[in-house]
Amino acid sequence: MTPRPGAECVRAAASKLGRHPQDHGWRELYRLLAHGLSRPDTPHLHDLAAAALAGRPTSSDTHLVTLLGIAVKSVDPAGFPRLVDDRPVEQRLATLEGLLSRHRRQIDQVLTRRQNSFTGARRFLVPQVLLAAYFARQEQPATFADLGTGLGVLPRQLNCKSLFDRYAPELTWPGGRPAYQPIPLAARYGVDRGPFPDQRWVQSCYGPSPFYAAQFRELTDALERPEVRAVEVGYHELDLTDRAALGVFLRGQGINAVNLSYTLYELDPASRAEVLDTLAGSLHPPGFVIVTEPNDGLARPGCTVSVRDHADPTLRRVCTVSDGHFTGVVRPLEWFDRFVARYPIRFERG
Ligand SMILES: C[S@@+](CC[C@H](N)C(=O)[O-])C[C@H]1O[C@@H](n2cnc3c(N)ncnc32)[C@H](O)[C@@H]1O
Repeated sequence: MTPRPGAECVRAAASKLGRHPQDHGWRELYRLLAHGLSRPDTPHLHDLAAAALAGRPTSSDTHLVTLLGIAVKSVDPAGFPRLVDDRPVEQRLATLEGLLSRHRRQIDQVLTRRQNSFTGARRFLVPQVLLAAYFARQEQPATFADLGTGLGVLPRQLNCKSLFDRYAPELTWPGGRPAYQPIPLAARYGVDRGPFPDQRWVQSCYGPSPFYAAQFRELTDALERPEVRAVEVGYHELDLTDRAALGVFLRGQGINAVNLSYTLYELDPASRAEVLDTLAGSLHPPGFVIVTEPNDGLARPGCTVSVRDHADPTLRRVCTVSDGHFTGVVRPLEWFDRFVARYPIRFERG
């Protein structure tokens, strides 16, 4: 693993996130972190960034910044608004330095034990369509694992027609609206790093804004639906960067299809490649992989969806989704037509 220089990479990542065109509650904090790390009179912030880098060698810089933000909010929710109010930046940095010195131990605990586990209520929409189309053409059903599942809702939402019908009209595809098609599913699993994120932690990962309050309600509403609760899902605590443990899990459960939604961007590039290699070597046939990654590592709106299987072991870009909360528009990329030609998706027009 190549060493990462000081806290400069954290500052650069914060600065990039601070330029995101949308703000759902975090952007001002990212700008404050970037500004604070560009000047010498913020010893607590510099020290924290260096400790975070040293303590989490397989995390991406972007993930570290988002996790720092979540840690700061979770240890002092009442103090958070004073970091992002309209006072001059020097005053807000002084507030931040005070907060970091008072809560450093708890912040370190968060940075050691937790990840950014923001979980989206609508992220099952595209996997539902792709998995259904793909497995309609396979001889065996899907034994599916959602890797980096967060709250673990996606494996429960698959094949939930009522949720699909509720959200699909707000996500437009090139051919119209995909008709609901069930996935032949033999078993479902959700995987995340221990300790498994609970509802309280996932809520901490949501930005402080009315937008995210509504998004979180969608998530809890989905989880409360009887048909979603009734689904049987096996949950496994596992660090995806532990290649041996990941391989044992995949082979042992006979997993032949996985989804990684907003998971790989949290890892450094070398670890991302290792996870994909392990999948290639350990998934049962047909080895279908769906990867959804935020555009430009969260610095631009939307995300890109790619697929791969044993027959075509290159990650192929299928489409973008204009908004990472899975509303808006699905736009085809270079592999979309090839995928639909092999694995037809039925669209309803109008
Ligand atoms: C941003 S959340 C996405 C949750 C969900 N997939 C979604 O799209 O709504 C990313 C998840 O990946 C998990 N993750 C990140 N690195 C991991 C690792 N090394 N091992 C296991 N899970 C990991 C995090 O714990 C987190 O819950």
